[in-house]
Amino acid sequence: MKFFVDTADVEEIRELAATGLVDGVTTNPSLIAKSGRDFTEVVKEICTIVDGPVSAEVTATETDAMVEEGRKLAQIAKNVTIKVPLTWDGLKACRTLTQGGAMVNVTLCFSANQALLAAKAGATFISPFIGRLDDIGEDGMDVVRDIRTIYDNYDALSTQILVASIRGGDHVRQAALAGADVATVPPAVLRGLSEHPLTDKGLAAFLADWEKTGQSIL
Ligand code: E4P
Repeated sequence: MKFFVDTADVEEIRELAATGLVDGVTTNPSLIAKSGRDFTEVVKEICTIVDGPVSAEVTATETDAMVEEGRKLAQIAKNVTIKVPLTWDGLKACRTLTQGGAMVNVTLCFSANQALLAAKAGATFISPFIGRLDDIGEDGMDVVRDIRTIYDNYDALSTQILVASIRGGDHVRQAALAGADVATVPPAVLRGLSEHPLTDKGLAAFLADWEKTGQSIL
């Protein structure tokens, strides 16, 4: 499973990308607003740090305007992935943009049927928002599992499942178990995946015992 980071914080991306664990980045209008920076400049900078897909979202709601915005965003860098919302107009924009050779991430997906339509529209990525489904009392991961089954039923559907709205390590574990292609994770969640209290406890014990030997490796 690939890891994308879900942030528009360039310094966070730079630090995490240095680990080699980051395969791409997702942004959305809320994350851009949080960064307090110019949209185009931020996306351009992120694309210099990460070689993989960098999602930048259109803000128009009508097909022709989405396509126009998408084409402009795609000119920022070759790894820009145009993000369009899962609306009827978004699906039509997705079809036009992918037919023109662009990568498209269809976002704000909350059902398997929506994901089926996105794949038929040629989406490169489909983004089911699992945390937001959990928030309303549904099991977001059920939708991911359904999408995996549906896509695997048909060779013609090659859209990658990009699990979004991830809130913690258990979502990551379940996404991997469900066979998701990508998990986009907030930086804190990615860092948290490395942590376990028994790792800390075990390391402290090893170092204490090592200290007693009076030896040094170098
Ligand atoms: C994905 O592309 C979205 O930016 C993101 O995962 C949304 O997550 P949220 O529900 O925590 O805002």
